Amino acid sequence: MFKTTAKALVCALSLGIAGLAQAADPIVIKFSHVVAEHTPKGQGALLFKQLAEERLAGKVKVEVYPNSQLFGDGKEMEALLLGDVQIIAPSLAKFEQYTKKLQIFDLPFLFDNIQAVDRFQNSPEGKSLLTSMEDKGITGLAYWHNGMKQLSANKALREPKDARGLKFRVQASKVLEEQFKAVRANPRKMSFAEVYQGLQTGVVNGAENPWSNIYSQKMHEVQKFITESDHGVLDYMLITNTKFWDGLPADVRSELEKIVAEVTVEVNKQADALNQGDKQRIIDAKTSEIIQLTPEQRGMWRDAMKPVWKEFEGEIGADLIKAAEAANKQ
Ligand code: LMR
Repeated sequence: MFKTTAKALVCALSLGIAGLAQAADPIVIKFSHVVAEHTPKGQGALLFKQLAEERLAGKVKVEVYPNSQLFGDGKEMEALLLGDVQIIAPSLAKFEQYTKKLQIFDLPFLFDNIQAVDRFQNSPEGKSLLTSMEDKGITGLAYWHNGMKQLSANKALREPKDARGLKFRVQASKVLEEQFKAVRANPRKMSFAEVYQGLQTGVVNGAENPWSNIYSQKMHEVQKFITESDHGVLDYMLITNTKFWDGLPADVRSELEKIVAEVTVEVNKQADALNQGDKQRIIDAKTSEIIQLTPEQRGMWRDAMKPVWKEFEGEIGADLIKAAEAANKQ
């Protein structure tokens, strides 16, 4: 009798300890990014945290680090590969070290609008790019929208010749460098965290960003003109460390996959409204003049920048470019 009770006690104790250990030991997912919280990516990261901690309570804890707090550009990918963070969502312009295919998203004037970008990302060709870096240890979980980019500068940009000789900040992308060289401007690679200061101090004269990044970084306060050019896209790939993801308990991974899918729908639904709201806030702030291009002027920018496609066609693949162009027509 005593023996059975003692056994039961030991059993209960060890179960209790195991339970405690489990409760004290959730899987920690660090999600690091470089933008402000009130942006499509910032909001997506917070929603991911909320849903993961609600539905996997005690099993998963998500720590979100916005504004390059933990890792900035250049370092966040390395940190992901080293296991110092588990999820990041770099802009599609920041992958050229890992795959040349994603350069497609930087080609100027390839997509007519964000709906076309969305259709391409959801096409078989677009989806295949999510798994194109698994040999490098990177798994793509989803595409998240930010939006179409606008050109800003301290000079009114109406025609390509207006950009001549100006210094433009670019993300770490050869395509974007070539895009500015095509209008005889000088591109300068700079991490996102440095852009505001770069514009303020005149290290660079201009930049290209969606409205949400311009507003949340207060770039409109240091740029006299913003041209609504919609000349390219700034979107993200939500990525994780392949080993980390594959090593998760199957039930946790499949729940997280469902959550990612749900958050992706929400981010992509809200991104355009968020950008339009920030555009209005910039107009209301009256710090910058917003320039609308005539169809002829927009055509001039397109003609000047489009030759860049040819330079990268070999690396990206002509078929992939065709598939992206087809997304404009549906
Ligand atoms: C940039 O560097 O301009 C963007 O990639 C920042 C971001 O993550 O939106």
